[in-house]
Amino acid sequence: MVAEAIDFKINKVAESRVNQLDPENIVFGTLFTDHMLVADCVNGEWQTPEILPYGDIAYNPALASLHYGQSIFEGMKAFRNVDDEVVMFRPEENFKRFNISAERMCMAQVPEEIFMGGLQKLLELDNAWVPDGENNSLYLRPFMFASDVYLGVRPSFNYRFMIIMSPAGQYYANPPKVKIETQFIRAAEGGVGYAKCAGNYAASLYPAKLAQEQGYTQLLWTDAKTHTKFEESGTMNVFFVKDGKLITPKTSTTILKGITRDSLITIARDKGYEVTEQDVFVKDIIEGIKDGSVTEVFGAGTAVVVSPFSAIGYEGEDYVLPEINSDSVSSVLKKGLNDVRKGISADTHGWVYKV
Ligand code: COI
Repeated sequence: MVAEAIDFKINKVAESRVNQLDPENIVFGTLFTDHMLVADCVNGEWQTPEILPYGDIAYNPALASLHYGQSIFEGMKAFRNVDDEVVMFRPEENFKRFNISAERMCMAQVPEEIFMGGLQKLLELDNAWVPDGENNSLYLRPFMFASDVYLGVRPSFNYRFMIIMSPAGQYYANPPKVKIETQFIRAAEGGVGYAKCAGNYAASLYPAKLAQEQGYTQLLWTDAKTHTKFEESGTMNVFFVKDGKLITPKTSTTILKGITRDSLITIARDKGYEVTEQDVFVKDIIEGIKDGSVTEVFGAGTAVVVSPFSAIGYEGEDYVLPEINSDSVSSVLKKGLNDVRKGISADTHGWVYKV
């Protein structure tokens, strides 16, 4: 077992706070489990990882990541399955993507023993925090930041890797209404769009706020050069159902290689849907909504899982999408994904990792 390959220093809480968890009433990202992991990389050498009671950390005002943004994260989930076991979903994919983000941001590579072993140890300790319930899970947040105390601009020599965990329920209370963004951009070719770096999320906030002021929930990002092709939406990859077929933008340096995205493509093909990864043009989708050939548009990501959109705004006009029911492609795919994670259907692709 990977987790046994290195020592972890463990300092357990005297008393669990798990009684604060109300599985019927979870607000994303607000409550954290009893323990967290902290591992420091000092001049290229990883120190013994520590598991500590969850709490504040002290930082120096000259901490490099606060100034120049060398900071990355992952979003992943653990579930309680029908046999009351705790499982993670495709955690090795998050591990690989984390180090791809680290490479792009010129940061240290995190060893598998610390990333996977840390998740394993934390989930063993905080097992009781994995909530039951159809849309519930434990959101796992590994992250790393530059920890040099230095104001010169260069890659940090020191990094801190941490994992925190937070119970999660349904992300959006209602289907989002999204606006096609044609002025601001999320990512440009050659940039950092494919990396899960903090700055990508920071840069999206202002355009999203402007859209929210116009009554939209989120943005549908288009390509930086022409604003004619879809890229992502909010923090999600995006899918379209046109003439009963599933279409999603192909990944590139500007699009995050979503693990939920990849899983949904596989499940859709298993279920016999035709799926293409291709350029998806704004004009084709708007025309398709108008003539009824585009029946669904939905976002997909770890936090949201599958999130059908209610309407799309484009150049001052709102295009309303048909209501979703249990036969909709997005509902079928969401159920397919949840059933594998909860152990209701067979794990034919080896995606489920028992803790
Ligand atoms: C995730 O789905 O894990 C995300 O990246 C969304 C998060 C920023 C809330």
